[in-house]
Amino acid sequence: MNYKSPRGTHDVFGKTVLWLNLLEQKAKEIFIRHGFEEVRTPIFEEATLFTRSIGQTTDIVEKEMYIFEDRKKRKLALRPEGTASLARAFIEHRMDTLSPACKFFYLGEMFRYERPQAGRYRQFRQIGAEIYANSSPAADAEIIILAQEILFSLGIDKINIHINSLGCEKCRPLFRETLIKYFSFVKNLCKDCLRRLKKNPLRLFDCKVDSCKFTGVPEMLGYLCCDCKDNFYIVQLLLKKANCNFTVNGKLVRGLDYYTKTVFEVRSDAVGPQDTLVAGGRYDNLVKEIGGQNTPAVGFAIGVERALFAAQSVGFFDNLKNPEKFFLAITDQELFSEAFAFAVKATRYGINGNKDISVFGPINGKSLTNQLKFADKIQVSKTIIFAKAEFENGEVLIKNMKDKTQSKVELNKL
Ligand code: HAM
Repeated sequence: MNYKSPRGTHDVFGKTVLWLNLLEQKAKEIFIRHGFEEVRTPIFEEATLFTRSIGQTTDIVEKEMYIFEDRKKRKLALRPEGTASLARAFIEHRMDTLSPACKFFYLGEMFRYERPQAGRYRQFRQIGAEIYANSSPAADAEIIILAQEILFSLGIDKINIHINSLGCEKCRPLFRETLIKYFSFVKNLCKDCLRRLKKNPLRLFDCKVDSCKFTGVPEMLGYLCCDCKDNFYIVQLLLKKANCNFTVNGKLVRGLDYYTKTVFEVRSDAVGPQDTLVAGGRYDNLVKEIGGQNTPAVGFAIGVERALFAAQSVGFFDNLKNPEKFFLAITDQELFSEAFAFAVKATRYGINGNKDISVFGPINGKSLTNQLKFADKIQVSKTIIFAKAEFENGEVLIKNMKDKTQSKVELNKL
């Protein structure tokens, strides 16, 4: 077979699936404790939902979207992130009336046509959380602490939280003008920077080619209006009160245009060059911009593959308890149906009251020796042997596959 999974995508199997499930389970438990409700949105949406919300001059919209036409020539896009989809669903279903606490979370695949490398894929998973209809800086602090708590629950405790404020529509225009002036004096800007200078000067902060040239570049923090300044101050105060360590990073901008006020990233040294595990911030205008009421909002998304790698590298999965494995063997073909019925019962009710088990067999048409070889191969801890003489007395043999000892047990006691 010459087929391979498409570039930048992965098949997930074996232990990784177990780890992925555990990671998502942990996150779900924490979300529920914090009063968040799950929402599942479609994997594709109208393409303009993303172009309008993420921003025309962002990398995602300029070059990373998977866009296609359906048979009726509707322009659709695989979702590159979850925030815009959730905002669409929030408006469409008047979720503020259904869930007045307005706290939502989601898990799922996202798609971006990026150059694949470790920690950067074309299909990846995010776990996201969003709080709507809440303009309080306490919601920003809650969101940051929530992200931190999920990482802590996975043993990822060596993290750096970077926060910044990108201001609002009142204070950002002056900053924008100042930035444009500053950048127009920087010599030899790259093609991308020159193109973005007028439309989206904040994007220049992220330029891998030019950023080293930007010494003394003005930062938004010096231009915040009173309201944004107060907000940012309270976010910091609440984080400090909650013993959440952070660094104020005036150069932090984000790759999506919808942000206002607080933005943040959680980075870890454990994951290599793609070190941002979580990113998020406040986006007070997005819901209105895509047709809803004026609804302030704040949220984050965790990159699941990166978090998984970080959790693995700190040894979080090393001591995971696996279910006990049993194999059901038969000495005579006529006992197959008895062993089969026992397998059904065991998987439903457990063995000796233990439900944390995996049951294999019985299998047809193999000698007992070959059945036991197979049991060894799949590394079961015990084989329950249905043997004719014992079965007639209501008993089975239990073989410990490690030390090869064997004992008789009454079948109805298992
Ligand atoms: P983002 O920074 O684009 O933000 O992505 C969030 C996280 O997703 C990143 O920090 C990273 O861990 C992971 N990620 C992004 N792209 C890739 C990729 N190509 N491969 C693997 N992991 C990736 C957002 O998506 C916003 N929607 C976050 C947000 C939620 N803001 C407010 N609410």
